[in-house]
Amino acid sequence: MKGLILSGGRGTRLRPLTYSLPKQLVSVANKPIIHYVVENLLEAGIEEMGVIISPETGQQVRKSLLDAGFQRARFTFILQEKPLGLAHAVKTAKDFLGNENFVMYLGDNLIGSGIKDFVEEFKRTAPAALILLKEVEDPRLFGVAELGEGGKIVRLVEKPESPPSNLALVGVYIFSPQVHLAVERIRPSWRGELEITDAIQELINMGLEVRAHILQRWWLDTGKKDDMLEANRVVLDEIRKTRISGEVDENSTINGRVVVEEGARIIGSKIRGPAIIGKRTVVENSFIGPYTSIGEGCLIKNSCVEYSVILPETEVIDIERMEESLVGRRAIIKKGSGVNRALKVMIGDDSSLEI
Ligand code: DAU
Repeated sequence: MKGLILSGGRGTRLRPLTYSLPKQLVSVANKPIIHYVVENLLEAGIEEMGVIISPETGQQVRKSLLDAGFQRARFTFILQEKPLGLAHAVKTAKDFLGNENFVMYLGDNLIGSGIKDFVEEFKRTAPAALILLKEVEDPRLFGVAELGEGGKIVRLVEKPESPPSNLALVGVYIFSPQVHLAVERIRPSWRGELEITDAIQELINMGLEVRAHILQRWWLDTGKKDDMLEANRVVLDEIRKTRISGEVDENSTINGRVVVEEGARIIGSKIRGPAIIGKRTVVENSFIGPYTSIGEGCLIKNSCVEYSVILPETEVIDIERMEESLVGRRAIIKKGSGVNRALKVMIGDDSSLEI
């Protein structure tokens, strides 16, 4: 079985961050989302992976995956010239996929479990497609499945105005090669995309078996800032024990589950976990509150940061209180002459903010 990771497309919902950083590379607990995807595929025994990339962000995605040094993973990068839909991505990868079954995994989806059981179920039952579903609050934002008797799928609709159920399609699917035939038969949707949801519906119309597996654990479609912060909270909550690989001076205190990576220095500060402090980051005379991830090479000085994600090489200086924030790479946030109140921001790479 092969893997197909979708990392093309445009990340409009996480702008401005995604002007310069593909959303699959935004970090959750200091690890890019797409790395969790690769780990899940490897854990399920899938080593041969095709990665759909776009002309705009393909090089960054490629570098991030190759630099991560995944043992056993073999990547083939496949350029999709335009984001014409998830089924179009399958079409683009047809030569790579050949006549094999494959797991299609959206590169910006995070799920709270591995996919081993899901893969085993596909092998055991050999349907034309096995889809993963999860109950959600607002199904209008997703592909939605209508189930009939015995859990059989009756109908699938993409982003319906009046959803037939609250079961959304999670961005992990397993297909037999029959899906290629279905992809050939569908037409672009109202949003101009070849929808994978329509291709799966086509498999049903062709009289083939499509099965569903309900995801028991959490799923986060990292579409917006609040989703990202929530994903970060959930993943940090899974840190089991404190690991200090950097330096913590005697004037600092560490409470709860905290990871301080190699080369990081905590000086006269308080860190309350769950939190992670990236490699070579300096935290000086500051408070880092729960559910915060500070990336590599950052400087946090005379500040208080809580429930936030800060990407690498950013500086936060003299900020009385920063919370619920998502900050890009190499940004500088510091106090000017203004009134210093609680700050909630979402700012992209290379930004500079003086308040
Ligand atoms: O997240 C789950 C949802 O993902 C499903 O419930 C929907 O049925 C499915 O259509 C999809 O909806 P989105 O509108 O959220 O998909 P998005 O455009 O965000 O693309 C998902 C991933 O696929 C993202 O990592 C970018 C990549 N992609 C997207 C398109 C349109 C490509 O690689 N190529 C593309 O042409």
